[in-house]
Amino acid sequence: MKINPQNQNNLTQPRPSYKIFNKWEVVTNGWYEALDSKKLGPGKALGVDVAGQHLVLFRGESGKVYALDGFCPHMGVDLGIGKVIGEEIRCFFHHWKFDGKGQCREIPCLSEKKLEVKTATYKVQEKYGRIWVYPKSEAPYDVLEVPELEGQKVSYSFGKSYKRRCHFHVTMINGIDPQHLSTVHNINMNMDVSIDYSEKDTIDINLEGETPNSRFSEKLVKKLLGDRYAYSMKYQGGCLAALSVMKGVKLFNKWEILPTLHMLFAYQSHREGETIVQPIFLTKKRNFLIDRILLLFTKLAFKMLQGEDGEVYENIRFNTQNLLPIDAPVTKYIKYINGLTPSLWSRQIPTEPKPSIRKKREVRV
Ligand code: FES
Ligand SMILES: [Fe+2]
Repeated sequence: MKINPQNQNNLTQPRPSYKIFNKWEVVTNGWYEALDSKKLGPGKALGVDVAGQHLVLFRGESGKVYALDGFCPHMGVDLGIGKVIGEEIRCFFHHWKFDGKGQCREIPCLSEKKLEVKTATYKVQEKYGRIWVYPKSEAPYDVLEVPELEGQKVSYSFGKSYKRRCHFHVTMINGIDPQHLSTVHNINMNMDVSIDYSEKDTIDINLEGETPNSRFSEKLVKKLLGDRYAYSMKYQGGCLAALSVMKGVKLFNKWEILPTLHMLFAYQSHREGETIVQPIFLTKKRNFLIDRILLLFTKLAFKMLQGEDGEVYENIRFNTQNLLPIDAPVTKYIKYINGLTPSLWSRQIPTEPKPSIRKKREVRV
C-alpha cells in the first residue's frame, strides 16, 4: 500500500500540530513566483497554477501584466485560452470581456452597459525577470530584496527549478538549523545568532562564528578566507527566502575584496507532498563580464550547498517532539510561520491546532 510518507507513522511517532507550519492545505499571503517574464509577450494570455490556485496571467498591449482568477465567472472556462484585446481579456466561450480589475466590460448578448459581474484579481509585480503574484488585489509590501542589495540595481540569473518531497516550510529550515551546520557542513556550530522580526511578514536571521580549524582543508579555508564566517537568511511571507553567504570575508585575513554571494529561493507546493523551488542568483550590477562571473560563482556555491543537503529533504518526515535549546532558531522560525496570515488560495482555513497525542517534551514555539 502506497501512503504519502508525510502521513506515515502518525500514531507511533506523533507530531505536534501547528496552525500553518507544514500544512499543505494552507497558503499564506506572500509573493509567489508565477512565470518567466519572457514567456508572456504583449497581447498574450496564459493559464497558470500558482501555489495550487488556477490563474490567468495576461499582458495588455501597454506591456502591463494582470492576474485574474483562472476560470471565467460565467461558466468556468479557462480564461488562459481567451484573447487579449487592448488591456482586457475576452473569454473564448461566450466572449465576455474583463478588464485588469476583474470587472466585466462586455457581454455580447446583452445590450446594457451596467454589468455587475466581477472576478477576483491579484497584485502582480515583475522583478528579477519573473512575474510574481500576491493572493490579494493589493500587497502590503514588494517582492523580497536581499537586505544588502536593497534599492540597488542587480544582475540575476536563474537556476533550474527542482522538487523536494516535503513541505517548503521544512526545506526553508536548512539555512538556520545549527546542529547540521557542524554535522553536514563541518561548520563550527558555536555561533552568534541575531533575529529580527521588525518588518511585516519577515524574519531576518544573521549567523556568525569562528571558521573551523581542525582538518587540513579547514585550515586552508581559514588562511584564505579569514578567522570568522558570517551569513544571513531573510524569509518573507513563508514562501520566499534570501540567503547571503561569505559576508565580510577577508582574503588572507587582510583584504575585504571578495564579494558576498546572494541567492533567492521562491517556494510553493507543486502538489500535496511535493515542493517546487526556483533558485535565483543575484549580484550588484557592475559590468556584464564581472556580473556573469560572480553569478557563476554564486551558482557553484549553491550547487555545493544543495549537494550536501539534498538527501535530507528528500527523506524527512519532519517532527519537533525532541528539540533542544540549541535548536532555538528553528523554534523561532516555526513561530514566525505560524504568525503569518492564510490567504484565500488556501484549500482549508486553519483552526486552532489540537494538542499532540503524546507529549514527550514541551515544544515552546
Ligand atoms: S464561459 Fe466565459 S463567457 Fe461563458
Ligand atoms: Fe544545510
